[in-house]
Amino acid sequence: MNKCLWGAALSAGQCEGGIASRGYSIADSQPMEKGRVFKRYPEPDPEKYYPTQNAVYFYENYQSDIELMEEAGIECLRTSFAWCRLYPTGMELEPDATGLAFYDDVIDRLLAAKIEPIITISHLEVPYALFEKYGGWENPEFCESYVRLAKCVIEHFKGRVHYWITFNEMNMTLHLPLCIGVGIDRSENELQCKYQALHQMFIANAKAIQYCKQVDPSASIGAMIAYSPIYPLTCNPLDVEKARKLNLENLMVSDVLVDGCYPPYALELFKRENLQIDVDEPLLKNTVDFLATSYYSTNATSVDNTTQSSGNLFGGAVNPYLKQTEWGWQIDPLGVKICLHDLYDRYRIPLLITENGIGAKDVLEDGEIHDPYRIEYLNDHIDKIKECIEEGVELYAYTMWSFLDQVSASSGQMSKRYGIVYVDLDDNGKGSAQRFKKDSFYWYKEKIKAR
Ligand code: BG6
Repeated sequence: MNKCLWGAALSAGQCEGGIASRGYSIADSQPMEKGRVFKRYPEPDPEKYYPTQNAVYFYENYQSDIELMEEAGIECLRTSFAWCRLYPTGMELEPDATGLAFYDDVIDRLLAAKIEPIITISHLEVPYALFEKYGGWENPEFCESYVRLAKCVIEHFKGRVHYWITFNEMNMTLHLPLCIGVGIDRSENELQCKYQALHQMFIANAKAIQYCKQVDPSASIGAMIAYSPIYPLTCNPLDVEKARKLNLENLMVSDVLVDGCYPPYALELFKRENLQIDVDEPLLKNTVDFLATSYYSTNATSVDNTTQSSGNLFGGAVNPYLKQTEWGWQIDPLGVKICLHDLYDRYRIPLLITENGIGAKDVLEDGEIHDPYRIEYLNDHIDKIKECIEEGVELYAYTMWSFLDQVSASSGQMSKRYGIVYVDLDDNGKGSAQRFKKDSFYWYKEKIKAR
């Protein structure tokens, strides 16, 4: 069996906060409300609460949070660097020294605690000023700012960070463009804008990989998608065909990352929709060392009108064989096995699961949180992942989502909790921000020890 690191994940934008010491991001402009990821918010509304600005105060508490990680026995932490902490508007030519010193300390403390950092260079918190000025990822000048960020951190953390992920969930560029920084609302052709943005991100990804290979060849660098296999709801060939196409829409992203060229599916789409994409871009040949994916659930689809599951970003029919979370995400441990085998059979390169977990309304009672549903979810998924490893899937790491409760990306709620450590804050940011270990914290510690 190959060696897989077992750990947990966070993302800077969802846990750090510390708005006074950094720039303002797209995430900071999104209030706590449903549908926030589908809109642009040009002006703050004084009546609303903006959760990522202070998030869960990781910026103020990181030393003790890392001590908790050490106590939990996690072997790796997948997190990100906040772009706006290093380049407050995204347009500075040099990084902010205080921001860099903060991450120096975070990384050094993780290493001292024998926790391998796995760093995502950009995770949903693009500088707002950059977005306003350049329109978004569809603009190559915008992407150059990202490349500056990527080069800066790869060079600065050389020898200390051994795993880099260029982008979080790249296929979400097609599904959640505005919150990722794609200016579809100001473009004349939305489809062109989305695929152009994705193409520019592929180039930025390739430049980061090229640079990493030159500067720190001992590091591994990859990128991430969100892969939720889509099942046909029935064996009606029309359902099967629909599911195949929906899966391809997402897998075309990893195809480019791994193969270094667009697959036939994409070429046909560009032709059919008359999209102008430079598919012969030679930089795409800089391919990933590994592929990371999040896995929360599977989805189902049908050509017939069926009851739709709520909550899943990819949407889809309710699968009658599966239970759902309180937010309507379908729970499917076997699906993680299908996810890993699909990807490994297709690419035969090492994989990482960088997010997997359940959002639930935990209750704090006398300093304790009993979360058997989280233990069950994680346990069932981890067991399936272990089966995959035994069956030959090469997995570098598994990082459950999430170490701390964090601000939910889609809703901005705190009550949608994923952590194995509870953070005492409510949906309006009220509370002590004190940390409490959940039952799942103790369970995960034992699970890691026993592997
Ligand atoms: C992933 C994102 O899509 O899903 C995370 O990378 C996010 O940032 C996670 O938090 C869970 O989604 P949500 O909306 O429940 O927080």
